[in-house]
Amino acid sequence: MIYTVTLNPAIDKTVEIPSFTVDAVNRITRIQEDPGGKGINVSKVIESLGGDSVAYALLGGDAGEKLLKLLSGSRFPVKSIRTDRATRTNMKVVDPVLHTNTDINEPGGYPGDQAIAELTQDLEERLKEGDILVLSGSVPAGVNKEIYRELARMGKERGARVFLDADGPLFCEGLKAAPYLVKPNQYELAQYFGRPLETEEELLEAGRELLKKGISVVLISLGGDGAIMCRGGGYIRAESLSVPVASTVGAGDSMVAAFAYGMDQGMDFESAFRLSVAAGSAAVTCSGSQAPALELVRELYGQVKLRGGNE
Ligand SMILES: Nc1ncnc2c1ncn2[C@@H]1O[C@H](COP(=O)(O)OP(=O)(O)OP(=O)(O)O)[C@@H](O)[C@H]1O
Ligand SMILES: [Mg+2]
Repeated sequence: MIYTVTLNPAIDKTVEIPSFTVDAVNRITRIQEDPGGKGINVSKVIESLGGDSVAYALLGGDAGEKLLKLLSGSRFPVKSIRTDRATRTNMKVVDPVLHTNTDINEPGGYPGDQAIAELTQDLEERLKEGDILVLSGSVPAGVNKEIYRELARMGKERGARVFLDADGPLFCEGLKAAPYLVKPNQYELAQYFGRPLETEEELLEAGRELLKKGISVVLISLGGDGAIMCRGGGYIRAESLSVPVASTVGAGDSMVAAFAYGMDQGMDFESAFRLSVAAGSAAVTCSGSQAPALELVRELYGQVKLRGGNE
């Protein structure tokens, strides 16, 4: 089974405002509310690919209830851990005239030690050998930046393959537990190493350094430039796919979701990588954090061009 963890979920409230202007009164012409948070997005994409997952989420207040309701039509179960702090609402201002996207995100309130301990314990009881545990996204203000390291260690002890997709100190600390897979984008990787990573050789060197830490698979996503998978003694480079871009939000989540789905289905690494690149590219054709349709992922799968190399 695949378990996703969302410590900082949100209701994504997308509002359409033609000619959005700062320092002025703006009028909304359309409102849409979607369940959000990286782990939840990963579960949505796994569902879209035909797979199963369980989404763990810390939820609180009326917004938490609303988020559960928004997820009630999903095929994946939500394991909600209640907190005293209300779930965030993140505003996304879409301007169809000026073609801009503006995100206004709440930081999320501290959920309390109790809620985190409850989530950890529940997961620990459920995780079995061979499961996949996906740790992704930000954490609410006040939560220890070592949380992913602790969850990753626990997951590994239970025999699960831990996927980490986070940035800054969360990534840095999480790496210390040597997760099974990490998926930094180019910026996150350069931040971690504290040096620019522009050329393929520089990116591969960074990937190799992560493998030396005991990580089995390093997926480096390069936005519109494709992706690199480093593992064992070699790497595979995927060229980018040319697709119409509606919103790049959630491309990384789709990539993580597809790789987790592929591994869970027993695919080989090359096929899982191909699927993850196809899913990432399919995601950018969707608006907001909508999961890409399976038909499109299938179509793009056949178009992904790979080339490999060894040390
Ligand atoms: N403009 C694009 N055109 C085609 N494919 C894209 C584009 N942007 C992203 N992708 C695909 O999606 C994958 C993941 O994208 P990206 O590197 O932007 O992830 P990310 O920065 O982690 O995104 P996020 O965290 O916002 O979900 C890329 O490796 C690529 O396969
Ligand atoms: Mg990302």
